[in-house]
Formats: sequence, C-alpha cells, structure tokens
Amino acid sequence: MSFDVSADAYQRFMGRFSEPLAARFADLAGVRHGQRVLDVGCGPGALTAELVGRLGADGVCAVDPSPLFAAEVAKRLPGVEVSVAAAERLPFPDGAFDATLAQLVVHFMTDPVAGLREMGRVTRPDGVVAACVWDHGGGRGPLTSFWHAVRELDPSASDESGLAGVGEGQLARLFGQAGLTVAESTTLTARARAGTFEQWWQPFTLGVGPAGDYVASLDAQRRALLRERYRELLNGGPVEVSATAWAVTRRGPGDHRLRRNALAIGADESAPTPPLSTSTAKARSPW
Ligand SMILES: C[S@@+](CC[C@H](N)C(=O)[O-])C[C@H]1O[C@@H](n2cnc3c(N)ncnc32)[C@H](O)[C@@H]1O
Repeated sequence: MSFDVSADAYQRFMGRFSEPLAARFADLAGVRHGQRVLDVGCGPGALTAELVGRLGADGVCAVDPSPLFAAEVAKRLPGVEVSVAAAERLPFPDGAFDATLAQLVVHFMTDPVAGLREMGRVTRPDGVVAACVWDHGGGRGPLTSFWHAVRELDPSASDESGLAGVGEGQLARLFGQAGLTVAESTTLTARARAGTFEQWWQPFTLGVGPAGDYVASLDAQRRALLRERYRELLNGGPVEVSATAWAVTRRGPGDHRLRRNALAIGADESAPTPPLSTSTAKARSPW
C-alpha cells in the first residue's frame, strides 16, 4: 500500500476529499475547546489542522507510520506533538486523551481490531473513539467510478471494496470486536470538484494509495485506455464527485445509544452519487 509519497501528492489526490470531511468528522466526535485529542494516521494533516483550529496546537497529538507525513505535520503545524507510529502500537499511556480519531485509516491498518483496541486504551474511559472509512463496499467512495473503469478493462484487478470496514455495518462490527461499544453509526459525505478532467486525473498519476499504485503499474497504452474510459464514466469535465464515508463513534459508559443518521457536507450534498449501473460496470477486456 503506497503512502510513501510526498505530502503534496497526497493532498492533491485525497486532500480534496479529506479536508472537507475533517470538519464534519470533528463535529461528529464532539471535539471542543479544552480537550486533548489524538489524530491516528494523520497523513499530511487534514484532520490535524482542523483539530488545531478548534483546540490549539497544545491540545493535539498526531501519529502516522509514514515518516514523510509525520515530518510534514510537524512542519505545517508547529506545537503539535507528532510521532511516527502505527495505530496497533500507540506510544501513549492509558487514558491519555479525551478523544482519539482516525479519519480514513482503519481500512489501511495491518490489524484493524488491534488498532481500534489501542485507540480505546489511550482514551479516557468516558472519552470518544471515532473512525470513518470510505464506503468502497457500497459504491459511494471517491474512487468508485475509477475502479469501475479499471474492472471493465481488467476484471482481475483488485479494487478497494475488500478492505476492512468499508462495507455497510463492518466498521461498527470492528469496534465491537475491539471491545468498543458503539454509540453512533452514521455516514458523512464530502464533495470534490475540478474544472477539467485533466486536472482531476493528474493526481491519479502520483502513486498515492491503491489507485495510484494501480495506475503506476500500467504501461503507457493501458494507462491511456484507463484514462479515457474513466473520462467517459465521469462525462468529461468539469468533474464533481461526491463521496460517502461510514463513521462510527464510541462514547463512554452511560451513552450506549445507537443512533443512525446521515450528515452531509455542503448545502446540496445530501443526495449520494448513485452507483453506476451494472451495464456500465460489465466486464470488457481489451487488455
Ligand atoms: C487515506 S490516508 C488518511 C490520512 C488522513 N487521516 C486524512 O484524512 O487525510 C491513510 C493514512 O493511514 C496511515 N496508515 C496506514 N497504516 C496505518 C496504521 N497501521 N496505523 C496508523 N496509520 C496508518 C497512512 O500512512 C496514511 O497516512
């Protein structure tokens, strides 16, 4: 899994979704002034910056196994305590935080249950543990049309729908397996835009995440075919893509309500992008 990329490459590829997502995710977790909060799998700092805006740098710690991303956050957000570490082994004592958040990370953890359990361990017993992952399983992720194009051209390719937690109810089940009582299970939606298809496509060539890895593995001819089919599926430009994430919170004892609802970012974003029809997704292999 390639997150060994520059912060700039990540920002251009996924930051266009994770930055708008961060504000709503922090709202969901009830982050407020005076708390001490940990951002697990911070990447280049989309959520970390949102937390600093609410708590000040003193109230925020961040970890990521990528030294490049950790260094970027330390540079970008002076005063934040940043460590190179994975969720499965957090370098903090029990109960160190009021809230521990992981935005778009659980599906990339080596051991998601162990990672969530550690997030619970370092959080006060009455604190909040929250995670969100894209709905790759239900066809509402930011890369759904991209993976449809890939699978049309290469039915044997692996998309991201098999990653941990990305199907309906799966993230809540992982919380349960980690011993975390689910208080709320909901969805969050973010939307990204580009003026032209070219602007939208270029970040796919930067090698970020599974999609970037896949594009990097193609020769020039296959890459051009994929690019063209993806352009067709997005109806050319300008491009606007809506993406929905599953979001789950654990609150402390005394708040064991299970709430299900949907929160959308932006005034016009409550309607999810409809999944592509099976006719557009059917196998066709010119490769
Ligand atoms: C899709 S990015 C999300 C980054 C950031 N949270 C955001 O919302 O933009 C996934 C991040 O998870 C990190 N990651 C991968 N495995 C991890 C693990 N086991 N524990 C913590 N973070 C991990 C990657 O290095 C990467 O920064």
